[in-house]
Amino acid sequence: MAQKYVSILQAMQQGSGSVSIHGWVWRERGSNKLKFVTLRDSTQVIQCVFEAVDFASRWSEIDKIQVEAALEITGEIKKDERAPTGYEIHVTDFTVVGKSENFPIGKDLSVEFLADNRHLWLRSRKMTAMLKIRSTVFGAIDEYFKGEGFYEYHSPIFQAVQCEGGSELFKVDYFGRKDIFLAQTWQLYAEPAIFALEKIYTIAPSFRAEKSVTSRHLTEYWHAEMEMAWSTFADIQMHGEKLLKHIFTRVLEKNRGELEILGRDVSKLEPIVTKPFIHMTYTDALKILKEKCGMDIEWGKDLRTIEEERLSSLYDVPVICSNYPKKVKAFYMKEDPADPRTVQGCDFLAPEGFGEIIGGSQREEDLEEIKKRLVEQGEKPEEYEFYLDTRRYGSVPHGGFGLGVERVIRWVCGFDTIKDAIPFPRNPERFKP
Ligand code: 4AD
Ligand code: MG
Repeated sequence: MAQKYVSILQAMQQGSGSVSIHGWVWRERGSNKLKFVTLRDSTQVIQCVFEAVDFASRWSEIDKIQVEAALEITGEIKKDERAPTGYEIHVTDFTVVGKSENFPIGKDLSVEFLADNRHLWLRSRKMTAMLKIRSTVFGAIDEYFKGEGFYEYHSPIFQAVQCEGGSELFKVDYFGRKDIFLAQTWQLYAEPAIFALEKIYTIAPSFRAEKSVTSRHLTEYWHAEMEMAWSTFADIQMHGEKLLKHIFTRVLEKNRGELEILGRDVSKLEPIVTKPFIHMTYTDALKILKEKCGMDIEWGKDLRTIEEERLSSLYDVPVICSNYPKKVKAFYMKEDPADPRTVQGCDFLAPEGFGEIIGGSQREEDLEEIKKRLVEQGEKPEEYEFYLDTRRYGSVPHGGFGLGVERVIRWVCGFDTIKDAIPFPRNPERFKP
């Protein structure tokens, strides 16, 4: 007769009587009379006890059970204060579904070793907790945009134009052509679609040929982007703030257990939901950096990582820094009519030094201004004809932003590095497994 397996969490909720579970061996220890196996599944871990008196003929099989073997277990569950998660199963029957010998990952291994064995390290409590939070974050982004009336829309990954600066482009060999790149952003292919759908979003991989290894850059990351017709610059900032609040609300609802496993101080996350974000212009930011941090930055220079970190560490919610100098920002950002040296673009800087999470802007509508800025940045406007058509036929005020999903996950989890926020990280030094 086929057994009905329940999750370990369900078994614990049942609390007594006979249960059948399946999972993987997390820990094991034993003597010639007793064997303790802590089994884990995606929901929980539980201690299971094998007694030699019950399994005289199968004891050598039990004795050989090692870490990460896959087991099916039937037994009697009961409360036991001494067991790691408060319950214990007294095993009455079992099957070794998949054996495991000398699982390479034990205690105190180097970061490099764990990275080489990422495919196995994913089973760890830390990575499992991250993966669950990651799932919540992706779901919350989707839920937010759908709830606000945005359509999901997809752009190509093979692209023939650059959007965020040529030096970070990954060229691909496209049937011998060398002028095709992997997407840095969906943006130039999203703007044409707002004339059909008005409000759109995506969650898709983006690629950046960042040459340096840092705690916040990946060469392949997941990018949540939105674009909307008829927007004001204030609308773009408002959606960024509401989106982050929604993500943090869902994580705090669903993932308290995972945050505890990760040792994350939840009181650092709560203000993101409850308090308004801080708005300031780039010019104000320079003043604050000078007054409060003793950092003297010449107007016109982009903020460096260290400056962003100092600035954002003054607050417990993100800083929405706007109106950067035109020359440090991308060609498509709208010149601010109130201060034409600056653009209506903004970066969301997360507290605790987690840095830029969102970059967005109102888009320049003026065809000639865009062409001029493309030329200034060394681009050939002829190659952007398809994009320039968006400004020729019924152009409307519009804008959008991009959010780095792993940056958010790293921040939520409180990780030292963005590498821990994605199952198989890619950076210039790490592309395997
Ligand atoms: O600021 P960025 O370059 O903006 C854009 O790509 C716009 N076209 C977005 C838009 O308006 N639709 O990138 C957006 C966000 C950054 O704020 C950051 O969170 C993330 O993408 N990001 C990275 N995340 C991980 N690794 C990298 N190398 C990243 N580069 C950017
Ligand atoms: Mg940016």
